[in-house]
Amino acid sequence: MDFELSPEQREIQMLTREFAQAEIEPHAAEWDREHRFPRDLYAKLAELGLMGACLPEEYGGAGADFLSYILVLEELSRADAGVGVTVAVHTSAVTLPILTFGNDEQRSRFVPPLARGEHLGAFALTEAEAGSDAGALRTRADPTGRGWRITGSKQWITNGTYAGTFLLFARTDGQTPGARGVSAFVLDGEHVRVTRDEEKLGLNSSVTNDIVVEGVEVGRDRLLHEEGKGFRVAMATLDGGRIGIAAQAVGITQAAYDVAREYAKERRAFGRPIADFQAIQHKLANMSMELDAARLLVYRAAWLKQQGRPHTEEGAKAKLFASEMARRQTAEAIQILGGYGYTKEFPVERYYRDAKITEIYEGTSEIQRLVIARAVLGLKQPVLAQG
Ligand code: CAA
Repeated sequence: MDFELSPEQREIQMLTREFAQAEIEPHAAEWDREHRFPRDLYAKLAELGLMGACLPEEYGGAGADFLSYILVLEELSRADAGVGVTVAVHTSAVTLPILTFGNDEQRSRFVPPLARGEHLGAFALTEAEAGSDAGALRTRADPTGRGWRITGSKQWITNGTYAGTFLLFARTDGQTPGARGVSAFVLDGEHVRVTRDEEKLGLNSSVTNDIVVEGVEVGRDRLLHEEGKGFRVAMATLDGGRIGIAAQAVGITQAAYDVAREYAKERRAFGRPIADFQAIQHKLANMSMELDAARLLVYRAAWLKQQGRPHTEEGAKAKLFASEMARRQTAEAIQILGGYGYTKEFPVERYYRDAKITEIYEGTSEIQRLVIARAVLGLKQPVLAQG
């Protein structure tokens, strides 16, 4: 067992940290306040290779491994969690599944513009009545002879407004409900109309949209993987994506911990720094311990994925623990700062708002517990279908 990062992993971690400290962190409060999507930033990240960190060089990526990409997400999220999710969805939820499930023509056509950051990617699975129960989606792809005509609405689509490539899931089996009969399609930005810009509790530098696809006709070249096997594409994609969201939670919490620790050393009460009080020391000790635990779960899951080994259970554990830890510990950071923590003078209230979503998207904590329980109990049959 080796707990050291490789020189290449350290290098990409430091590169991202330095860039994030210089170009992201100083603007994060303003982007949050003004709900501004920093479009130009993604061109700069692309120049550094960070819009395709773990994509092969032959497809326009930086050729780093999956753990390196996870380190990138952690560092970006430490500076601004909205930037973290934009890059996470773009990479793990769109570019990687096209690379994994696409045929040669699809890979060489769709992956390079994404890996080079010329297009942003969006993952369109969720619908108004298909969130945790993703298999209940109703977007239709009706056969036309030469391909399909796609019609439907999707909700809470990260990057929707700015995306040039959508990985979109639709039923190719008529309207039978359930996971079977779902197929995955690669659509262009022009195939999609954005109908709503969601206003959120946090992550205000990212965009979250409702979209519609209105009878768009596509050829067979747009079908990713096999017809009727799209749900597996979605689930396998989320298995990896969840590790990225877990890394995001770790990054946010690291930022909160850094602020709380420094504040505790500076702030004086009853004639001494509050870090001298055991009540504060215990909070910082817990934060540090839980951060370590979450990070180790995240890196283990990333390592397993990188080895091509099963990681469904480990990714779910990493996301579940890291996201709940982030919610708990960003609240503790506010508590250490007291009244200041509740104001916009310090960034910890933003970390707290941003942390909450990590317990919800890419599968709620309840869904992560379901996935873990199925694994530890060796359940082959879907629990949900049994009621
Ligand atoms: N890998 C590959 N295939 C898998 C799989 C996995 N991890 N998990 C399930 N499958 C396959 C099953 O083998 C099955 O295939 P067959 O029918 O061929 O046998 C099929 O998928 C259906 O599986 P289940 O019967 O287990 O499906 P289910 O209806 O019981 O639901 C679920 C399973 C785990 C609850 C799933 O619906 C789920 O993960 N829900 C949460 C959805 C989610 O995470 N949404 C996130 C939205 S994206 C997002 O948030 C992005 C963002 O903005 C940040």
